[in-house]
Amino acid sequence: MYSTRKVTQDTIWVGASDRRLAQFENIYPIPAGVSYNSYVILDEKTVLLDTVDRAVAGRFIENLTHALDGRDLDYLVVNHMEPDHCATLEEIVLRYPNVTIVGNVKTFNMIRQFFTFDVDSRAMVVKEGDTLCTGRHTLSFTMTPMVHWPEVMMTYDSCDRILFCADAFGTFGALNGNIFADELDFEQDWLDEARRYLINIVGKYGPSVLQALKKASALDIQVLAPLHGPVWRENIPWFIGKYQTWASYAPEDHAVLILYASIYGNTESAADALAVRLAEAGEKKIAMYDVSVTDPSYLVAEAFRCDRVVFACPTYNAGIFPKMETLLHELAAHNFQKRKVAVMENGTWAISSGKLIREILQSLKDMEIYEQTVTVKSSLKEAQLGELDGIVAFLEG
Ligand SMILES: Cc1cc2nc3c(=O)[nH]c(=O)nc-3n(C[C@H](O)[C@H](O)[C@H](O)COP(=O)(O)O)c2cc1C
Ligand SMILES: [Fe+2]
Ligand SMILES: [Fe+2]
Repeated sequence: MYSTRKVTQDTIWVGASDRRLAQFENIYPIPAGVSYNSYVILDEKTVLLDTVDRAVAGRFIENLTHALDGRDLDYLVVNHMEPDHCATLEEIVLRYPNVTIVGNVKTFNMIRQFFTFDVDSRAMVVKEGDTLCTGRHTLSFTMTPMVHWPEVMMTYDSCDRILFCADAFGTFGALNGNIFADELDFEQDWLDEARRYLINIVGKYGPSVLQALKKASALDIQVLAPLHGPVWRENIPWFIGKYQTWASYAPEDHAVLILYASIYGNTESAADALAVRLAEAGEKKIAMYDVSVTDPSYLVAEAFRCDRVVFACPTYNAGIFPKMETLLHELAAHNFQKRKVAVMENGTWAISSGKLIREILQSLKDMEIYEQTVTVKSSLKEAQLGELDGIVAFLEG
């Protein structure tokens, strides 16, 4: 059975959601699933914008067939060649052999790498600013490399003023009937997942996202139609503002994030002691995570949200406790920067985790690192509470 929704008079959402997949890209947990969005424009010519992941091919084909209502498919615009949007590309060519595939030079190189069907006889190669008129609608193409892959482009329909924005403005989470952000409490229920999606997937390429935002700012956008998650018809400047913050590595909240590792519980106890002292100093927003419990994708997103971060960690085989080390490398890999940070270390015989953590933090841009590492020798002692207050004063100063 089909499950399409109208986006505008001529444009129909024909995507589908996967609620079975445990990890997106086989790395990021998605407890609420994910949607793969695809759109049809019914004009004098028919256009399909992107396809979907193999996992939801069945429902996608039912939706597409229903939307076309017996018409042939004239164009398939490929904004992004990653298999979560292209695994069903050959299926489309087999069903609609007259289709013209629209992409840029890099798109077609990738199609030839992933597939063996005859793409060249049906290729329409476009470059920045090129247009395609389908009757009432004129589509124009703008290149947005590295948001998420090098071939990524966005397609703007100047008739309905829709920006088909590929992976940008996407969100983890299945779409459950309400495909529009204005039908949901997005800030309450979806914002954390939108942040986790963007930061983890393209956090490393903030400048590329900023460039794409600059191009988008020249357009009159009434609808933002991403490849994952809700479609935007209202409040678009608010969401673009969030992207501006995330892509420029600016903190989103005035909040303290305490990230700790602990084997026996003593580092955790010291972290708790710090947290209550922060609270007593008036800090209202404190987030705290055990890095062995929470997946790094959540922690990287939280670190991007908060303006101050404390790392507390035992020494492990003369190194950093592995889960913390992985997290620090993830932060560095995502170009984490511009934060106030403090370090607490622990150990029983030769303590080195603090020094090693500082080395990683010092390699990041524009970090303000509290000069005093608090050293816990197996367990924190009453006489050391003043040292915690030193961290509090630094973070609250
Ligand atoms: C496998 C393993 C390796 C460790 N390696 C070191 C080490 O190289 N140097 C050190 O001082 N302590 C080492 N420790 C001890 C812990 O860092 C120490 O007991 C610390 O107080 C644990 O803090 P926690 O109570 O928060 O788990 C190691 C512990 C384990 C289990
Ligand atoms: Fe992608
Ligand atoms: Fe994607």
